[in-house]
This record gives sequence, structure tokens and C-alpha cells, in this order.
Amino acid sequence: LPVVDEGLTADPEFMGRLDDALSALAHARDIRLATPVIIPGGETAKNDSAHLARLYDAIYRAKLCRHCFVLAIGGGAVLDVAGYAAATAHRGIRLLRVPTTVLAQADSGVGVKNGINAFGRKNFLGTFAPPYAVFNDQRLLRTLSDRDWRAGAAEAVKVAVIKDATFFSWLEENAGQILTRDDAVMGEMIHRSAALHLEHIAGGGDPFEQGSARPLDFGHWAGHKLEQLTAYRLRHGEAVAIGMALDASYAAAAGLLRADVAERLIALLTQLHLPVNLPDGAGTDDLLAGIEEFREHLGGRLSITVPTALGQCVEIQSVDMDRMRQCIEKMLCLPCG
Ligand SMILES: NC(=O)c1ccc[n+]([C@@H]2O[C@H](COP(=O)([O-])OP(=O)(O)OC[C@H]3O[C@@H](n4cnc5c(N)ncnc54)[C@H](O)[C@@H]3O)[C@@H](O)[C@H]2O)c1
Ligand SMILES: [Zn+2]
Repeated sequence: LPVVDEGLTADPEFMGRLDDALSALAHARDIRLATPVIIPGGETAKNDSAHLARLYDAIYRAKLCRHCFVLAIGGGAVLDVAGYAAATAHRGIRLLRVPTTVLAQADSGVGVKNGINAFGRKNFLGTFAPPYAVFNDQRLLRTLSDRDWRAGAAEAVKVAVIKDATFFSWLEENAGQILTRDDAVMGEMIHRSAALHLEHIAGGGDPFEQGSARPLDFGHWAGHKLEQLTAYRLRHGEAVAIGMALDASYAAAAGLLRADVAERLIALLTQLHLPVNLPDGAGTDDLLAGIEEFREHLGGRLSITVPTALGQCVEIQSVDMDRMRQCIEKMLCLPCG
């Protein structure tokens, strides 16, 4: 059952080419192909449960069983909802992921999570379910908007900051080519980022997040809350960029990170045209509530990842709320000063 992100139809020939390719494959391998389901891309896919319902309906009508495949082609949001439908129908149908955004190719595609939003919370419903296979094809990124192209780079910056100082320097050196959509540079960025994410998930000892340490969630407590507070006007990658700037500033204020390193991170994000200031309307108290929501989502004791140097990080179990408040208020003032 192909599930396709509507954004891909920006190329009017995409569905025709997909249909030809899948029909040829189905014929050659004697595969029964169901009618593709097209889902609107972006957070709508995860916010409106009607899309999930359509997927269950398509799975039911096509009589898919656990030996069948859902072929999800799209950005992180469509992959998340299609993955959730696949993981829960019949308690698990196999999932093939074809990520079509920079973010999904560099991060979420190779992950083991899926989910949808509920009760105004990000990923409130979801499961851990490794995909059967993931196909990253850079040619699929050609129709992506410049904004989504840049937003995806935020997760590469994230994984570089916490795990790989050499990759961070490489990103600094190549920021110009990332912005101008240089194919070779983007290919390398995506590959290195996906490899670091995969290495952590597969080799980090806790793929299903039973423990507390969650380094890949650097910048995400504020990121997720900002997505919600802005009614998803911010892209996930943009919100994470602001979240990283905030937590790096906090780490510097707490004496955990040299101030010049925090500034280097903020400079790289700025060079990549990613936001580092808090958007209008994000009240300090509303944002701070994101800390407890993050803890509740992950379970157990609060654990927030902050960088201690480039390529290194630490988990902190408590946040000095006054200090965090000061950091937030400083970031709110940035545009005027
Ligand atoms: N499951 C995980 O481990 C994980 C990890 C990171 C992020 N995520 C989730 O991923 C989502 C963000 O994903 P994203 O950044 O890929 O953006 P997205 O899925 O929100 O898509 C952004 C926009 O790009 C469009 N689009 C997708 N591919 C396109 C293409 N090739 N050409 C033209 N338009 C295209 C979509 O239709 C949408 O309008 C968030 O919901 C986030 O929570 C999940
Ligand atoms: Zn993320």
C-alpha cells in the first residue's frame, strides 16, 4: 500500500512515474499493489486523525496482512502517521520508508519511532517500531522548498553538537553550499547525520528509550513546545534550532559550556538561516511548561541533554527555572537589541 505525501505532487509527473515504477515491479515480482493513499504533508497529517482513519480504512479494504508492506513516501510527518497506522493495524504490518525531506532523510527516516499528535501534545500517540527498510534517494529532494531544505539541516547540527566536533566544523565550512543546495555537500551532510543517528539508535543500548538519557532530543523540549505554541507555524527543524540556541545559552549560563562555544552554535544556525530567537507570542511561562510536558512524555525523572563542548553532552536532572527564565527573556529581546 503506497502512502504518498501530497507535497510530492508539486512535480505533476511524480504520481505517474511512481505508478509506472510500482506497476512494473508488481508485475515482475507478482506483487499485489493497492491504490495509493495521498496524505497532506506537514503537521496536519499528525494533527487531524481523519488521515490516520483513512489509512486504517485503506489497509482494511486492501486486505493487508502482517506479511504485506506499507510503502510510506514523504516528509517526517507523513512517515510518522503512516508508520503509526502500519505498526498498529493487525499489531504490525511491515513498513518501508522513503523519506523525501532533508530532515526525514537525515534523521527520522532511519529512526524507530512513529506517532501522531493528540490533546495538543506532540507525538502523544505512537509506537517504537523499526522499519523493514529505508531508501534515501536525494533526487526526491529537488521539489522541496528552500525553507524545508534549511529546516532539515537543524537536526544535522544537533547531532554534530552532541556527538561529532569534526562534523560540526565541516558544517561551519560548508554552510554556504548547504544554503545554495549543492548536491554533493547536501548528500554528505545527510549521510553523516543519518549515520550518527543510526549509530546511536542501533548501538547506544536503548533503542526503545526505556532509560532516561536522550541525547538525540537536544533542543527538543523547547522545540516541541514552540511548535505547539505557534500552532505549528514553525517547522520542526526551525523549532529545534531555537530550542538548541536556548539550551546552549542555558548551559553557558550554568557554567557547563564555554560561552564562545554556545555563540559558535548560534552563529552556525544563523548562517544556515535558521531562527534562534523566540517568536512573538511565545510567553515565558507557557514555554517553561514544556519542561514538565517533556518529562511526562519521556517518563521517569527529568533528563535534559545539554552540550558541554562541541561533540560532547551531559544529561541534567534539574533545571534552574530562574536561570532558564533569564535565558528565555534574553532571547525574546534579541530582535530589538
Ligand atoms: N519519528 C521520529 O523519530 C522523528 C524524528 C524527527 C522528526 N520527526 C517528525 O517529523 C516531522 C517533521 O518532518 P519534516 O521536517 O520532514 O517536515 P514535514 O513532514 O512536516 O514536511 C514539510 C513539508 O514538505 C512537504 N514535502 C515533503 N517532501 C517533499 C518534496 N520532496 N517536495 C516538495 N514538498 C515536500 C510536505 O508536504 C510538507 O508540506 C515532525 O512532525 C517531527 O515531529 C519524527
Ligand atoms: Zn527532531
